[in-house]
Amino acid sequence: RTAPTARRFLQTQATPPTRVPEFAFAFDIDGVLVRSSDALPRAHKSLSYLQSERIPFIFLTNGGGKHEQERVDDLSKKLDIPIDTSMFVQSHTPFADMGEYKNKTVMVVGGDEDRCRVVAEKYGFKTVVTPGDILVAYPEVWPFSQQLLPYYSSFTRPLPAPINPISPSTSLKIDAIFVYNDPRDWGLDTQIIKDVLLSHNGILGTLSRKNGDATLPNKGYQQDGQPPLYFSNPDLLWAAKYHLPRLGQGGFREALEGVWSALTGGEKNGVTLQKIVMGKPHKLTYEFAEKRLIAHRGQLLKQFDGKLGHLKRVYMVGDNPESDILGGNSYESPHGTDWVSVLVQTGVYVEGTTPAHAPRQIVGDVYDAVSWAVAQER
Ligand code: G3P
Ligand code: MG
Repeated sequence: RTAPTARRFLQTQATPPTRVPEFAFAFDIDGVLVRSSDALPRAHKSLSYLQSERIPFIFLTNGGGKHEQERVDDLSKKLDIPIDTSMFVQSHTPFADMGEYKNKTVMVVGGDEDRCRVVAEKYGFKTVVTPGDILVAYPEVWPFSQQLLPYYSSFTRPLPAPINPISPSTSLKIDAIFVYNDPRDWGLDTQIIKDVLLSHNGILGTLSRKNGDATLPNKGYQQDGQPPLYFSNPDLLWAAKYHLPRLGQGGFREALEGVWSALTGGEKNGVTLQKIVMGKPHKLTYEFAEKRLIAHRGQLLKQFDGKLGHLKRVYMVGDNPESDILGGNSYESPHGTDWVSVLVQTGVYVEGTTPAHAPRQIVGDVYDAVSWAVAQER
């Protein structure tokens, strides 16, 4: 464990820099720059210093639920810093590249459902349904959210026209399930995901002959044409406004896994829930973020017709050892860029405890992180 650094102060250079340095930053958002809607005290000061020194940075968050442009506008206002979407990677941003599903029927789960649907449609997904759409179409599908029907009816849409109308309730075929953000109605979302994963061929209202028939080998689970299940954020906990960490999308996934293993026998039956989990600390997300950072740095260089130079180091500043620090420590850049993890004490991580994954440096807040990193580079 490294002791927190002494308070350092960032000095802007007397003459404005004419080159873009060969190091950069990736900032986690919740617990580093904001706590829910409140900016943290020295966030603005840290980022405006970096911009005055032409030191590139991006935002890398497991948060989501709105389109990148909307989140960038919100964050820019909150931090009083000019930013654009080229600097912003959130949990579901990589979903935008999944062209193979754009002309299929996908189910988007989580967040303010209709907002996430609009994000998916802006990414180019043509046919998007939500658990709320299904509940309003078939209220009996989940008896315990009836009191929420007026809420759901205010934004849900009719289901796509029956594709193979075996009967109205078995016409909807789901080709992929994407959990975009923290689910608000865990009961409904768990029920609908379970129905689709145990269906025949992703057709809602059916029960797969393999999965439903105990006489058949249980290896049939998720091997009867059921759709893939993508999670965008593994966070079990995150730092919201409340003084103790809150359950995140990882909490929902663990609850779903519990229902899945109760239904299928789970691990002891050799039936683990097949899923793809993205977001920090997973490699896919860091690869995606590094590409964005290199492109953004290239934009900055163009403004200074500076020589490209190699991005030698990225300081990954985060509050969660399980996502920011583990990800920063384990990511191996194909460009040989060294990712240096820096843990702050303004979010999930509690000062004085031993973090589950040891960062390169532990500091007080984001300003200390920037001061320490800049001092390493001087
Ligand atoms: O839902 C947001 C939460 O999981 C954490 O977000 O910004 O700390 O990666 P962030
Ligand atoms: Mg965080």
